[in-house]
Amino acid sequence: MDITVLFKLTYGLYVVSTMDGARPVGCIINTCFQVTSQNPILAISLNKNNYTLEALRRTKRFALSILAEDTDASIIGSFGFRSSRDCNKYEDYGYDIVEGAPMVNGKFAGRLVLDAINFVDNETHVVVFARLVDTVKGEGTPMTYDYYHRVVKGRAPKNAPTYVAPEVEKAAAEKPETEAAPTTKRKFRCNRCGYVAEVEGDLPDDYLCPICKAPKAEFTEI
Ligand SMILES: Cc1cc2nc3c(=O)[nH]c(=O)nc-3n(C[C@H](O)[C@H](O)[C@H](O)COP(=O)(O)O)c2cc1C
Repeated sequence: MDITVLFKLTYGLYVVSTMDGARPVGCIINTCFQVTSQNPILAISLNKNNYTLEALRRTKRFALSILAEDTDASIIGSFGFRSSRDCNKYEDYGYDIVEGAPMVNGKFAGRLVLDAINFVDNETHVVVFARLVDTVKGEGTPMTYDYYHRVVKGRAPKNAPTYVAPEVEKAAAEKPETEAAPTTKRKFRCNRCGYVAEVEGDLPDDYLCPICKAPKAEFTEI
């Protein structure tokens, strides 16, 4: 079976956010789809190790903020590569509470408020079905998962349902569908979040990862 065919599935990117008592928590997900149209139900997939799932089981009410192509990419680093178990992800951004759900400040294509109604166990992940309660209009072009990979050059951590091991990704890249144009650029991968920087020459000494803010020392040439 060629697992790279899964790369052809399309997704968006979202911040799922909920309250953990008096404290806002949340994480990045790419798995969200609308299940029904009347009195809509949506579904999201959360890893059992993610603290957001623990909080959501208790709180039920949550928000989904739909990332736009020009949403501050550091939100992906803050919410997608750290756990609310040991940090406050909202520290740098602030948040508003809308209908009981925390919404991280920033530019988003739109926001949804939902109530979890059903938790379905799927081995490593739990699919949460949720009733749409309200919407908030936003602006910008929604960021697709493909755009995140191709333009932002980001990756997903192990807890994401669509995680792909670097060796599988490398093997897929080695058999391109079309011949790639020759390039003089060097590629450096961030050891913390997997972001790949392509530059002429070396990374500047004061370089910071645009996703997770890791310094140049955290980059390995690939
Ligand atoms: C691009 C991207 C997509 C992700 N998609 C999902 C997802 O669909 N479901 C999930 O459970 N985690 C996903 N993750 C991983 C979580 O955001 C990550 O494990 C986070 O640290 C969990 O934080 P928490 O412990 O505070 O909940 C994704 C991360 C990234 C960067």
